Amino acid sequence: MFTTALAQREKTQLGKLPLDLFAAIESLKKELNAVILAHYYQEPDIQDIADFIGDSLQLAKAAEKTNADAIVFAGVHFMAETAKILNPDKLVLLPDLNAGCSLADSCPPEAFAAFKAAHPNHLVVSYINCSADIKAMSDIICTSSNAVKIVQQIPKEQPIIFAPDRNLGRYVMEQTGRDLVLWQGSCVVHETFSEKKIVQLKIAHPEAEAIAHPECESSVLRHASFIGSTAALLNYCQNSPTKEFIVATEPGIIHQMQKLAPDKHFIPAPPMNNCACNECPFMRLNTLEKLYWAMKNRTPEITMSEDIRLAALRPMQRMLEMSV
Ligand code: 13P
Ligand code: SF4
Repeated sequence: MFTTALAQREKTQLGKLPLDLFAAIESLKKELNAVILAHYYQEPDIQDIADFIGDSLQLAKAAEKTNADAIVFAGVHFMAETAKILNPDKLVLLPDLNAGCSLADSCPPEAFAAFKAAHPNHLVVSYINCSADIKAMSDIICTSSNAVKIVQQIPKEQPIIFAPDRNLGRYVMEQTGRDLVLWQGSCVVHETFSEKKIVQLKIAHPEAEAIAHPECESSVLRHASFIGSTAALLNYCQNSPTKEFIVATEPGIIHQMQKLAPDKHFIPAPPMNNCACNECPFMRLNTLEKLYWAMKNRTPEITMSEDIRLAALRPMQRMLEMSV
């Protein structure tokens, strides 16, 4: 599905980069009648030039509503694919086609089809962090901000497969009291946080509150006083009287936290090793330069077969109906 980075560069980065990239992107936006949608994990420059920033649910809703002719998706592949599922006639661009997702990759379609066949009569609820092929095999899609709400709406006697994130699945089980059959996928970023270092930070900053994304492991979630999607974490920081937070999710979100609550202090939760592994290596493949080239050359474009799109659209629409 993905081209190599070099092949993509050769195909997309032809010509000279303008001096004022921000102005050049603004002008391409008018030329294409495009909207730039960005996830909170994107680098600060991309967040600042985006027309809309949000979590996965907000971005899916924004993609569904837009009147633009082109959607430039500053996020990862499954997010741009979701925009295409909802907008078959629009041009959907992703600045770097290699911006995948470890969670989506942890659920290959053939293996998932066999898993599904081994659990007949189960309803399949899939986290939006999955490929269009997995969405096409699902009954309802959810995001981290509506997973609990969606599972709560399913009759109690109905057995459910939850895929692909085992951590979000376990969190939903705890919140709903439901017994879900979990696909054992996970996110490399949210599994990297160190419980020991978070505890050490809490001791060093006794006034700070730890907050976490539900993709984190339970060893991290148990230290959090608030758990939620990126948008929910942002909202919590703004409205809480607390002045200092230890943030256990991808640190790209801290750019918005600092903008919206400039008087507060945000500490990124550290990874286990001395690395930058708390930054999503896929999200960070997108750069302002690549965003410019994507708009200038109208590529890389997201495409998919109409059969898969229609099959993936049905559970997406169910999610949108169930999360109003
Ligand atoms: P949300 O956007 O739902 O908070 O999910 C975070 C994430 O990992 C996206 O890949
Ligand atoms: Fe995927 Fe994790 Fe990156 Fe989100 S943070 S895009 S779940 S790898």
